[in-house]
Amino acid sequence: MNPKKPRSPTSPRKDDNLRFRRFLRIPRFLFKWFKKIHSAKVYSMSYVKDPSLAGQGKLNLEIAERHMGALLNVREHFKKTRPFSGLTIGMALHVTKETGVLVRTFVAGGAKVAITGCNPLSTQDDVAAALAKEKDIKVWAYKGESNEDYYKFLTAVIGEEPDITIDDGCDLVTLVHTRHPHLLKKMLGGCEETTTGIIRLKAMEKEGVLKTPMIAVNDNLTKHLMDNYYGTGQSTFDGILRSTNMLIAGSTVVVLGYGSCGKGVALRAKGLGANVIVTEVAAFPALQAAMDGFRVLPMAEAAPLGDLFITVTGNLRVIRMEHIEKMKDGAILANSGHFNHEIDIDTIEKQAKRKRRVRHYLDEYLLKSGKAIFIAGEGRLVNLASAEGHPSEVMSLSFCGQAFACEYLVKHKGKLKNEVITLPDEIDDRIAKMQLEAMKLNIDVLTPEQRKYLASWREGT
Ligand SMILES: NC(=O)c1ccc[n+]([C@@H]2O[C@H](COP(=O)([O-])OP(=O)(O)OC[C@H]3O[C@@H](n4cnc5c(N)ncnc54)[C@H](O)[C@@H]3O)[C@@H](O)[C@H]2O)c1
Repeated sequence: MNPKKPRSPTSPRKDDNLRFRRFLRIPRFLFKWFKKIHSAKVYSMSYVKDPSLAGQGKLNLEIAERHMGALLNVREHFKKTRPFSGLTIGMALHVTKETGVLVRTFVAGGAKVAITGCNPLSTQDDVAAALAKEKDIKVWAYKGESNEDYYKFLTAVIGEEPDITIDDGCDLVTLVHTRHPHLLKKMLGGCEETTTGIIRLKAMEKEGVLKTPMIAVNDNLTKHLMDNYYGTGQSTFDGILRSTNMLIAGSTVVVLGYGSCGKGVALRAKGLGANVIVTEVAAFPALQAAMDGFRVLPMAEAAPLGDLFITVTGNLRVIRMEHIEKMKDGAILANSGHFNHEIDIDTIEKQAKRKRRVRHYLDEYLLKSGKAIFIAGEGRLVNLASAEGHPSEVMSLSFCGQAFACEYLVKHKGKLKNEVITLPDEIDDRIAKMQLEAMKLNIDVLTPEQRKYLASWREGT
């Protein structure tokens, strides 16, 4: 069930304020000034749900580190080179144990880190509590944040005047552009973790409003292949199973979107014994889904067939009321795309006769027709809302990308254009090699003859 929501750190109820002001007969302007000073003070301290969870958080960080060998190697490199001495890194990432390992890596490289979550339901409160106790780290995050606190916490990170930002979904850097543009002058640039964030950044670049270099970490092969494909494939089912404990074998699973994430989800659904249907709007991925052996249908035809629907499109309202009306009684819906608007929950909320939380992050909606549907993880990233996100090994690769991207921004300070940048292939290759090393896997080396052959055009049939 939902944990108890802590009181917002910076917004006592309005009537409390009024009563307090009247009681002390303080003039409004003086009270406003006091509140401003007080909020700034609250912003300057970490804010987590329960500091006493730090012990468990420390253990979880320890476990994650065991599986993140490649990132620990980067940490050793940063300890020697200290690329971030004197710099502040502002982060809006899921506050999980794996992100904690990344934060510690930046601190080892000399940075101060200010971090908040990038999704109201993805924070692991024990990890947030543990990080808040460590030197040079400030944390503002709790699981179940209100929208208001979500934006206050982003503002708190911005208040630390970061030299580099790291985003997952682009909320932090868009807030810097729209509300705190003065910061852009001192910023070296930023990094973006996910597909949806890259789409937003490219739109900013196209409109000519992007005012700092942004590295598309999502586009590293070692991120895109491992995280979106293998990571989302596994952790989406982790979330769905924790919420529903349903039997996947023999069920019909409809996967909406056959991009990197959709392919991973469909692969795992098939592996678990489901009959998989894919819906798409683009020709090539639809063709690929068909070649991979999946049934491809428009959503209107897939709706009455599915037992479980999983959205991974990065798009808006791909499951709407017109689809839900056709679904079986008891159909389960989950989203693993970045934002919580892939399923049209607003309309479902308005039209449902009743809503009940029946299990861990599983809501039942009773419709006017008498049918019920279930939504896991409140329609937010189900792998993070209902479970713990990707396994540590996967995040190790994604975060090696973040670590090297930040180092790249430092090394190329003042030389990069204000555009969306893909890291050079050598960095991707270095990350892949580090992971192979961590997995104790060896590969062959080209012979001099093979190297020459691959570089020449003269030899034919
Ligand atoms: N859950 C996670 O941990 C996690 C991890 C990585 C990425 N993501 C997010 O998942 C989403 C998908 O990422 P991706 O890398 O697979 O993107 P992608 O661009 O590779 O794939 C998206 C696919 O959805 C299809 N699509 C778009 N609109 C559609 C519609 N109305 N119906 C059916 N298909 C539609 C597109 O044609 C495309 O093939 C993004 O929001 C991304 O940020 C989530």
